[in-house]
Amino acid sequence: MSEGAFPEGFEWSTATAAHQIEGGNWNSDWWRWEHTPGSGVVEPSGDACDSWHRWEEDADLVAEMGLGAYRFSVEWARIEPEDGEVSVAALDHYRRVCEGLRDRGIAPVVTFHHFTTPRWLADRGGWEDPSTVERFATYAHHVAEHLADVMGRACTINEPNIVASIGWGHGAFPPGVRDWDRARAVQEVFVDAHRAAVESIRAAAPGVPVGLTLSMADYQAVDGAEEKMARRRRAMEDVYLEAVDGDDFVGVQAYTRERIGPGGQLGPEEGVPVLPMGYEYWPQCLEATVRRAWEVTGGRVPLLVTENGIGTDDDAQRIEYLHAALTGLLRTIADGIDVRGYTCWSLLDNFEWAYGYGPRFGLVEVDRRTFERRPKASARWFGSVARSNALAP
Ligand code: NOJ
Repeated sequence: MSEGAFPEGFEWSTATAAHQIEGGNWNSDWWRWEHTPGSGVVEPSGDACDSWHRWEEDADLVAEMGLGAYRFSVEWARIEPEDGEVSVAALDHYRRVCEGLRDRGIAPVVTFHHFTTPRWLADRGGWEDPSTVERFATYAHHVAEHLADVMGRACTINEPNIVASIGWGHGAFPPGVRDWDRARAVQEVFVDAHRAAVESIRAAAPGVPVGLTLSMADYQAVDGAEEKMARRRRAMEDVYLEAVDGDDFVGVQAYTRERIGPGGQLGPEEGVPVLPMGYEYWPQCLEATVRRAWEVTGGRVPLLVTENGIGTDDDAQRIEYLHAALTGLLRTIADGIDVRGYTCWSLLDNFEWAYGYGPRFGLVEVDRRTFERRPKASARWFGSVARSNALAP
């Protein structure tokens, strides 16, 4: 392999999630949370990027960049708007999206749950209720059956560790609970739900690779806090990584590092640039997390970077970040770690959850009034990396 080159067949991709781009997803716990006084969400998602109607434009943008895959999510609250009522029209919509991607030579990477849960399910305890495992597996079965021949890859649950810790521990995502015992219980339900969904997707869509996507960070101990750091990392990452044996891939998602001191999580270190999300500019996180995922899984499960990127108004900084992150990724591949692809978060500037539309993660800018899409210089840069399957120095 020549210097800077990625392995043959390496999957280049970009990602979005239904609630962040579709618009009008009023039937989920998140929409309700956005309209709950005191929730801390800076603005509601509203029309988002209107991708429910403009998905063909989005598919064209992915094709123009020359990417081989596009990761997006399907909205449970649209597919099962009430308990047990399945919307064939919603499933057909997502089937058209998959077919449209395929027509453009793009493999659809489908996420089954990306942060949002139908209201009816949230009202019955959502991810705290163990019966949600069965309900999620049944929903996953419906989706997988409908998309079996068009899906390129299936991701069960996006960042369950973030949903459990931010929703039930910190209280900043719905349901806004601040109770770490309950957060731990939710984590167990998520692990079981992932396993059950892997089985139901495999049964309905044989041959489609299935895996989990996990939020990971470059954990670092400061001032002798090794044990504290290891405990936190174990709760946030290892419990999930240990549950993925037998999956077809693990999706690593990384954005920054986490410094843990004797008193807990530390803020940014002096001298390290801070991003609009409040955390450090730390592209080194990708190399660190890929190595860590490989270590904890014992090299038994192929890895895929299912998210990596930067929320910034400075597009030159985005290119610099992606370049540094990919340089680190090449080192892991050179060391024999089986990384099959890289996904840049995100295709579009979109609804960044509690932060609203402030942080801009997109390769493509979206006019908030007309929804017009304008590719940034980073889109052209990322496209050239993907097309050449190599990183120029
Ligand atoms: C992870 C989440 O999956 C995604 O929804 C979010 O927008 C990005 N990180 C950026 O924070």
